Amino acid sequence: MVRIVVRIGGSVVASPVNIDLIIKYAELIRQIKLQGHEVAVILGGGILAREFIGIAKNLNLESAAQDRIAISVSRLYAQLFMEKLGDLACTKVVTTLDEAAEGFSQGKIVVMGGLKPGHTTDTVGALVAERLMADLLVKGTDQEGVYTRDPRKFSDAVKLDQMSFDDLTRVLECSEHKVGIHQVIDSMAIDILKRNHVQLIVFNGFKPENLLLAITGDKPVGTVIS
Ligand code: UTP
Repeated sequence: MVRIVVRIGGSVVASPVNIDLIIKYAELIRQIKLQGHEVAVILGGGILAREFIGIAKNLNLESAAQDRIAISVSRLYAQLFMEKLGDLACTKVVTTLDEAAEGFSQGKIVVMGGLKPGHTTDTVGALVAERLMADLLVKGTDQEGVYTRDPRKFSDAVKLDQMSFDDLTRVLECSEHKVGIHQVIDSMAIDILKRNHVQLIVFNGFKPENLLLAITGDKPVGTVIS
């Protein structure tokens, strides 16, 4: 049995909304749970969250308010996912770490979106992993894994199979919170995972079967960070 936090990027399932992928992830997560593992799933807000951030900006709302709007959007995706998981999941979207711990102790799949302003759902995943003493955080993202530099900008970027948390911090472009930021993983999350010795696997979320490979370790997938 492993305790696993699955962080599904909004850039994967919600930019635009990909019904087939949502169905596939829900099936896989049910399967993982029925195999006896403990699972928490954290959904991001994707393109709709960025649209609402834009609206909030145009209304001259402060950045914490922009974040809160984006959090609401991520919780909407979390709700869709939770409803699709059915009785294996908690009956409401979890909005605090205490509720996450309670959901786990009741043997349910915990489903969350954002938590509070000032970070992204990557940090939510890391905080949940810390609180639930998870073994592993996996993130399905829109790249094959972590690269030596941003592969969207640099054609000579090379994908790394394995790296340390310190190396990961070094290759990130931005270490501060910016509303609506899109990075392979956020730097606050890295610090939390590092100090709690939680392994991180970043993989291509458009290939959901990677999730099972990441958990079983049968075949190397994405980038493994420890
Ligand atoms: P998300 O974490 O929802 O992004 O953050 P995403 O759509 O999954 O993106 P990828 O796929 O990882 O790139 C979207 C925005 O929501 C706010 C922040 O503004 C963040 O940039 N947010 C989210 C918070 O303020 N707090 C949270 O706990 C979560």
